[in-house]
Amino acid sequence: MDDKNLVATQIAYYRARAGEYDQWFLRQGRYDHGPENRRQWQQEAGVVEAAVKSTIQNADVLELACGTGLWTRHLAPLNRVVAVDSSPEVIAFNRARTGAENVEYHVADLFTWRAPGPFDFVFFSFWLSHVPPARFDSFWAIVRAALKPGGSAFFIDSLLDRTSTAHGQTLDRTGMSKRRLNDGREFEVVKIFYDPPALEQRLANLGFHGRVHTTEHFFLYASMALE
Ligand SMILES: C[S@@+](CC[C@H](N)C(=O)[O-])C[C@H]1O[C@@H](n2cnc3c(N)ncnc32)[C@H](O)[C@@H]1O
Repeated sequence: MDDKNLVATQIAYYRARAGEYDQWFLRQGRYDHGPENRRQWQQEAGVVEAAVKSTIQNADVLELACGTGLWTRHLAPLNRVVAVDSSPEVIAFNRARTGAENVEYHVADLFTWRAPGPFDFVFFSFWLSHVPPARFDSFWAIVRAALKPGGSAFFIDSLLDRTSTAHGQTLDRTGMSKRRLNDGREFEVVKIFYDPPALEQRLANLGFHGRVHTTEHFFLYASMALE
């Protein structure tokens, strides 16, 4: 699949998945791996949530690929947020969940959209892993262009864990993943599991400095300051 098709397929996939997206994070339905898995997931998500809340305060924040608001809800009470996503369906869920007047929403393909700015933080959760490899550097150029001097990128993403996805779904290091919706429709999306030290080094080469942290099983997260 060429690069443009990858982007278009991912946009279509997340539009179609909007109404069932949260089942993944809430460990419900096909993502239910039992109470112990859910408890561990929630505990690790809590660690990341605390890092977000303590790091990003009183700031102008650009949230890329904001989705249904699972993280917008933590950013909105403490900051002024501009949130963008290509799916009007997930933005509707986000608005309902966040209910905040200090969030400005945009429906757009972030690869071609020009963000209003500049911002203290550019935030993106479970998005970097979906950026096509050929767009890695140009994506980080978008992040850089949106930041104030001395600003930071805060991101959260997935570690490779068998239970982080749906039952019966393949999970590997090929960089591509076949995703099935509850109604059986299938889409092929980019899903890259980054090695934290290698990612740190790669970002340092692009002028973003910081540590990529990990939780025990499921998540990586980082606040990377622009030099
Ligand atoms: C894995 S979800 C993450 C959502 C949210 N950040 C979260 O953590 O729950 C990826 C999101 O990226 C959005 N998306 C996919 N391609 C996009 C694009 N080209 N421009 C903007 N958003 C895009 C999808 O609509 C979806 O909401």
